Amino acid sequence: MTNNMFFIANWKMFGDIRSVNSTKKVIKLSKNKKYKRAQIIYCPPYTLLEKFLKITKKSKIKIGAQNCHYSQRPGPFTGSISANLIKSIGANYVIIGHSENRISEDNNHTINLKIKSALKEKLKVIFCIGETLNEKRRNKTNLVLKNQITRGLKNIKNNNIIFAYEPVWSIGTGVIPTNNSLKKQILNIKKIINKFCKIKNPKIIYGGSVNTKNITELKKISLINGFLIGGASQNTKNFIDIIKKTIN
Ligand code: PGA
Repeated sequence: MTNNMFFIANWKMFGDIRSVNSTKKVIKLSKNKKYKRAQIIYCPPYTLLEKFLKITKKSKIKIGAQNCHYSQRPGPFTGSISANLIKSIGANYVIIGHSENRISEDNNHTINLKIKSALKEKLKVIFCIGETLNEKRRNKTNLVLKNQITRGLKNIKNNNIIFAYEPVWSIGTGVIPTNNSLKKQILNIKKIINKFCKIKNPKIIYGGSVNTKNITELKKISLINGFLIGGASQNTKNFIDIIKKTIN
């Protein structure tokens, strides 16, 4: 394998100002030629973005936010952060459509607006898709993924999108799909993108309970371009272990 691999750390609402220093070892690793294929991206809470940008400045680690508001203009949206504000601080990525946000504010339409807003600001989008356990049990996975992709990307033609397949039943549960079913889903996602979106060679990553143990199985799936890692990325030792085990 010669392609780059994404290791995207989704810190969710964890971490504080002191935990930023814990990333120094990851920065060191990112400068090691042996791991040059690893594209590491940290997505900390908004309040830590600036610290992260500063500490990673001299490395090739990129920084992203975990969400953005859909509005392309400033406005009376108390507590919200726009794509423009994220870009203006110097970040390069934004996660959009995470299932934890689909529960509350997000649906395929707002996600579509958010992606447009992010792309307009030249942010790269980490677009989360995935079925719930209930949808999986009712054999609705294909339909759900098709709707999420086609509605989320309606009227969007842009290559600055990374697709993060995150089965909702796998997030934070310790349960992951078998390699066979994951391969099948990734191929299915590729098919949907090919048919409905004008995106060439889409990057597809996997997220959901990635850890230091299951990474040795997951990395065998050559169709996967990387991982979106929640819990395990908040522990520097584990995050490094995942990167090292993937790229050896
Ligand atoms: P997890 O989270 O690795 O803790 O399951 C992944 C995610 O929510 O992106």
